[in-house]
Amino acid sequence: MDNSRKKYIVANWKMNFTTGEASLYLNKLSNRIQPSRKVQIVLAPSTISLQPLSLQVNRRQFKLAAQNFYWREYGAYTGEVALSQIRGFVDYAIVGHSERRYVFNESEADIAQKVAAAVRSNITPILCIGETALERKDGETAAAICDQLASGLHEVSKEDIDKVIIAYEPVWAISSNKNAKPATPTDIIEAVKIIRKYIAKLYGKDAAEAISVLYGGSVNKDTSAAYLELDGIDGLLIGSASLIADQFCAIVEIAKGVNK
Ligand code: 13P
Repeated sequence: MDNSRKKYIVANWKMNFTTGEASLYLNKLSNRIQPSRKVQIVLAPSTISLQPLSLQVNRRQFKLAAQNFYWREYGAYTGEVALSQIRGFVDYAIVGHSERRYVFNESEADIAQKVAAAVRSNITPILCIGETALERKDGETAAAICDQLASGLHEVSKEDIDKVIIAYEPVWAISSNKNAKPATPTDIIEAVKIIRKYIAKLYGKDAAEAISVLYGGSVNKDTSAAYLELDGIDGLLIGSASLIADQFCAIVEIAKGVNK
């Protein structure tokens, strides 16, 4: 069944690279990565770089993603960027990343509105979910995952669920976390089972089978093959390793070679 789902390699550059550096880095990646029908490569630069990179990028090779946006169309929201302002530049948008949830106190209600706004704008939301170390320690992993799915997808209808990608990012495995440690294959397989079971409950078995689920704890070129081979995993959402051309290009090549 995994064969029918597309593979994704998504680079989350977070708050790194000036506009000039981002352009040079894109140029480097463009020269080293061949387009592939098997793997969709998505780059998520800072908002400020979206417009210039959208002019530079070969969209057959890479798609662009927003790291964040505000869900209202326009108005008096100082410092925010609306989807209507970046719609022409991006095909994807990361929503509900743990750094937005926990550093910027983004609410579940805002996350749900962002997912819905992206779907309305024909931009694929990549909804990030994942338990904290404390939730895992307290045996609340499944509850945390299901709660985030229920609230994040609250505004998404059965007709639209195929327009959403889920990224499982256990907060305790992300490199920005002080005591980050790698998730084991068992941890990830269990979490993905919980995710698909809950999607089945909300939207039916076909939707659960069809939805793409990415893994987004700390991944590098040495660990990516093992993650990509896991049952139910359709790709990776990569932070630190996506900032290093050698690392990122190696991961893309590994993804192209994964047969499942
Ligand atoms: P790292 O790959 O740096 O751990 O970050 C993961 C992440 O947050 C991707 O969105």
